[in-house]
Amino acid sequence: MERIRITGGKFLEGKVKIKGAKNAILPIIACCIMIKSEVILHECPHLADIESMLKIIRAGGGVAEYEGDSLVINCKNFSPYCIDDSYTCTLRASLFVLGPMLSAFKSASVCYPGGCEIGLRPIDLHLSGLKSLSVNIECGNGRIECDGLNMKNGDVFLDFPSVGATENVIMASTLLDGTTRIYNCAKEPEICDLANFINVMGGKVLGAGTDRITVEGVKSLSGGRYFPIKDRIVAGTHLIAGALMGKEVVVDGVNPAFLIPLTEKLIGSGAKISTELRRITVKNSSQRRAVKRTETQPYPGFPTDLQPQLTAYLAQCRGCSIVVENLFENRFNYTLQLQKMGADITVRNRVAIIKGVKRLKGCEVEAKDLRGGASLVIAGLCAEGITEVSSVHHIDRGYENIENDFIMLGAQIKRLKN
Ligand code: EPZ
Repeated sequence: MERIRITGGKFLEGKVKIKGAKNAILPIIACCIMIKSEVILHECPHLADIESMLKIIRAGGGVAEYEGDSLVINCKNFSPYCIDDSYTCTLRASLFVLGPMLSAFKSASVCYPGGCEIGLRPIDLHLSGLKSLSVNIECGNGRIECDGLNMKNGDVFLDFPSVGATENVIMASTLLDGTTRIYNCAKEPEICDLANFINVMGGKVLGAGTDRITVEGVKSLSGGRYFPIKDRIVAGTHLIAGALMGKEVVVDGVNPAFLIPLTEKLIGSGAKISTELRRITVKNSSQRRAVKRTETQPYPGFPTDLQPQLTAYLAQCRGCSIVVENLFENRFNYTLQLQKMGADITVRNRVAIIKGVKRLKGCEVEAKDLRGGASLVIAGLCAEGITEVSSVHHIDRGYENIENDFIMLGAQIKRLKN
């Protein structure tokens, strides 16, 4: 099992270039199932989760390969098959194939995706959304069988603005005759990027980014080239590291508007932030202050995917901060690892009370999930002494060689292979 070793206390300086967003690229790859010609996606990071989605395409007879930082995908020979639990257990986002498979083949079958470290991850909103399009769904023996022979457009109301459910319903209605309206949908930038991708390829998805999306069905989508949006969560991770240890860290390529909920918090804590068109610069403050209250919410609220990283920062800010996790019922597990480093964090259900200390103390810790693992790396950048983060495969799901970015910024960090 690989580990990452960090010697804390080195100030960071330089530029990090942000690549395409994992959570935009995953649904876009799935969407290619309904495109019968070549699609090329540019500036994509090499991530385990993306590789898992490419395997699903290849297993169905499609072409799906990295060529440098581009992804070449061609589903002209793709045939539907049951996405078994070897896929759904490693990649929950494999659920995103339901919509495009129904669009392209009027049938889809996946094994139930399990929960994960951060929560049970139910899929009722996906299934109820598809049923609103007259998809007949049978669940049993750990599988979800979708029959879309009688699919038709309709009105879909989501009880909660679920990102994945919104994406599945958009893709299920893209090639469906007539108009489908989706109410109370998610508004994340990744939803807008999926809609933009579909429109560039000849679809008609209107209203993405609002709580009401209209999909006008088209006969087919064409292939072509596309640049997915940059990863706001990777960018936010580096901004938080810069607010903690940055003399001057430039995060390049990301739209600053996507990160306003975070930058507002960092400014309130004393960090200096400046923004340009596609660039955010952060300088740390030696007098880092606590942030009274942060609550994770669906976009445009504070993103749950930056909650662990912010908590690692607040654990080293003078004063008492409160963080409330409203999206996932189990997303504070990583705090046990921060407590091993000396963090004073009390968790009660969905509320973490953080009494900041000047610096944590490095020790051996273990990543248990993707963003929790990233928070341990951030904590180690500032902590006294050496921090060793094990089970880094969790981190590699969403960060391309996380240590390389920090080495470029002057951190003393390396990956130990054993
Ligand atoms: C997406 O997951 C992201 N993953 C997650 O990022 C992110 O944390 C999440 O959106 C919220 O922003 C991808 O895009 C691949 P949801 P998703 O459906 O679609 C409940 C990361 O670290 N819910 O918006 O699964 C659910 O339990 C990952 O990159 C239902 O109740 O998130 C949760 O409380 C982690 N029923 C809330 O909705 C459903 O059918 C938000 O989930 C679906 C969801």
